[in-house]
Amino acid sequence: MASSSSVADMTGPSFCVVTGASQGIGRAISIEIAKCFYPGSLMLLLARNYQELSITADSCESGNVKVIHKSVDLSTASEEDMMDILKNALAGYQINNFKRALIFHNVGSLGNLAIETSRMENVPEMRKYYDLNVFKVISLNTQFLKLFEDVVEQVVIVNITSLCAIKPMGGMAYYCSAKAAREMYFRVLAEEKKNIKVLNYSPGPVETAMIENVLEEAINKNLREVFTSFKNQGTLLKPEVTARKCVAVLLAAKFSPGEHVDYFDDE
Ligand SMILES: NC(=O)c1ccc[n+]([C@@H]2O[C@H](COP(=O)([O-])OP(=O)(O)OC[C@H]3O[C@@H](n4cnc5c(N)ncnc54)[C@H](OP(=O)(O)O)[C@@H]3O)[C@@H](O)[C@H]2O)c1
Repeated sequence: MASSSSVADMTGPSFCVVTGASQGIGRAISIEIAKCFYPGSLMLLLARNYQELSITADSCESGNVKVIHKSVDLSTASEEDMMDILKNALAGYQINNFKRALIFHNVGSLGNLAIETSRMENVPEMRKYYDLNVFKVISLNTQFLKLFEDVVEQVVIVNITSLCAIKPMGGMAYYCSAKAAREMYFRVLAEEKKNIKVLNYSPGPVETAMIENVLEEAINKNLREVFTSFKNQGTLLKPEVTARKCVAVLLAAKFSPGEHVDYFDDE
């Protein structure tokens, strides 16, 4: 049922999931996209921190949009847990009354920055990292598609990726490799499903907890220097600035299927 009609048309009720919506870029994207929705829309915000999710939810809620937030550890949630969360959020709604369904796969973590790439060997740790950043993202996406692909007019998937998905960054082998795998999964999906809008959006360097974590944890000298200079020169973007661009790119609908679009790319 999902058609390739332009994302620019946001009329009618939308259903929208945002992961990692409790802070940073996920919170900003939630607030920005909520402004675009028409009456009858529903948002589902996911992350672990319930209190912070409530704050995001309050900022998104409007006469047009009802917002549900749910605390969940997405590194351990099973496929059944994910499906239940989606279905519980949709209780009382007719899925086919939604004109479109959107999902922003924003959740992400840095991985172990205190190990040299040439000494990586802790497979359980790597597996846990890949669970949150790759496997569970794919699994949640599949639950979402099972519910919506054949029912609503338009399905829109946004993966929050990174320059690190396409360019190696010393000291970030966990992060770069997982971002690359995750982005390629969405590119393959886009290749197969021409009726679904898939965007890989790279937000640029953004002032969030993630940047602070790099400065606290990284052992790679160059990595520390790069991020220290971002911070000291004031070149970090505000989350709301990159969120605005992400939504603008989506609404302009000029990207090709699965395209990697960076904040710094030309309009
Ligand atoms: N900041 C940057 O410069 C930058 C650059 C390029 C790409 N990105 C990407 O942008 C996305 C958001 O990053 P950010 O900078 O906003 O990071 P952040 O502030 O650390 O936010 C990460 C989000 O993920 C959630 N999360 C982490 N672990 C989780 C888990 N186990 N289960 C459920 N939710 C979990 C966190 O919420 P809870 O702690 O409440 O669970 C939080 O809402 C990530 O994919 C990141 O890779 C960031």
